[in-house]
Amino acid sequence: MDEFVCTTKIISGPGAVEKLADFGARRVFLVTDPFFFKNGTAARVAAAAKAEQIEIFHDVKPDPSVELAAEGTAKLRSFGPDLIVALGGGSAMDCAKAMAFFSKGNAKLIAIPTTSGSGSEVTDFAILTHNKVKHPLVDRRLRPDAAILDSDLLEELPPSLVADAGFDVLAHAVEAYVATGAGVFTDALAREAFGRAYGALPASFAGRKEVRLTVHQAATMAGMAFTQAGLGLCHAMAHALGGLFHIPHGRLNAILLPSVVACNAHVAGKKYGDLARSAGMGGSADTIAVRNLKNNLIRLRRELKLPETLAQAGVAPSAVWSAAGEIVAATLADPCCKTNPMAVEDFLVRRILEEVTGRV
Ligand SMILES: NC(=O)c1ccc[n+]([C@@H]2O[C@H](COP(=O)([O-])OP(=O)(O)OC[C@H]3O[C@@H](n4cnc5c(N)ncnc54)[C@H](O)[C@@H]3O)[C@@H](O)[C@H]2O)c1
Ligand SMILES: [Fe+2]
Repeated sequence: MDEFVCTTKIISGPGAVEKLADFGARRVFLVTDPFFFKNGTAARVAAAAKAEQIEIFHDVKPDPSVELAAEGTAKLRSFGPDLIVALGGGSAMDCAKAMAFFSKGNAKLIAIPTTSGSGSEVTDFAILTHNKVKHPLVDRRLRPDAAILDSDLLEELPPSLVADAGFDVLAHAVEAYVATGAGVFTDALAREAFGRAYGALPASFAGRKEVRLTVHQAATMAGMAFTQAGLGLCHAMAHALGGLFHIPHGRLNAILLPSVVACNAHVAGKKYGDLARSAGMGGSADTIAVRNLKNNLIRLRRELKLPETLAQAGVAPSAVWSAAGEIVAATLADPCCKTNPMAVEDFLVRRILEEVTGRV
């Protein structure tokens, strides 16, 4: 039995934010971060809704906390919108999704991603941090009603954000493709997302703006795949490490993904092989194709100037090992572990930690 539910309306292309007017809203509550508030984008996007009343909540910080979402929920409730607009990267979208969920209102939620990464604009996930632990909330009601993919918002993306978020897309596609919940529809989306992002990321990183919509759409496709198929060990460890050390989420995926691919290859070799071949990496035997997949991820990571180890990302090995117990416990408790293609145990997490810790 294969079940696939797709409920988010997706509007994509340059200038797509103008479509906000079609939602006929009277009271718009826009959630964003200080960057888009200060540069005037938030006000411009809110104005596109042509509403009578607008309120902008612009305090979202990367990896939003439960406290911040609670503060935003109170403001949202007292404003009483009929449309909630989330503008920003995964952090702003997750915060807005959690606020909409906690406020229990009937307002529609429109997500406008400004990074090509999280896929949060189409997922049932919202990730909030509490006491240095990242908690993925997972609920169908978190899924936005519409996603607007406007490539005009990507003009100022710095190369480091293209790289970080880009590796989030690759990790979503790779993990969804081999996850226990994968099916024929999620496979098609994950394969297409992986091929597009893998092919276009070097040009996007080099500043070629004409490929940015390709990566942006790939991020959404990967989100559609993983919200149904699930993720895996790479994301479970990225959540555990991200809560403790505040390294950008996609950068952690870049550090972890090649090691996780090698570790899962015993059970997922055939599917990894298919994915590698579909992206033009060759390898008629699965073992060769898996090796090509791992090596090409490492090569792309270097090309995008991403760190190879936690030490290179600024976390001393002593800090990692003194928190190893917490990291293992948070990884095993993370819902993403449940859909990893092989069972995750304590020793596996420690083995990957050893590989990715690095030296100072
Ligand atoms: N809900 C989900 O399904 C899901 C999936 C994956 C990741 N996440 C979460 O998403 C978060 C990461 O999101 P992210 O990688 O999009 O980054 P982010 O939202 O944390 O933003 C990082 C920084 O980039 C800046 N920025 C965003 N767009 C920009 C643009 N167009 N130009 C210039 N600067 C810009 C922001 O102001 C911010 O300072 C993490 O908390 C992660 O856990 C959620
Ligand atoms: Fe992710």
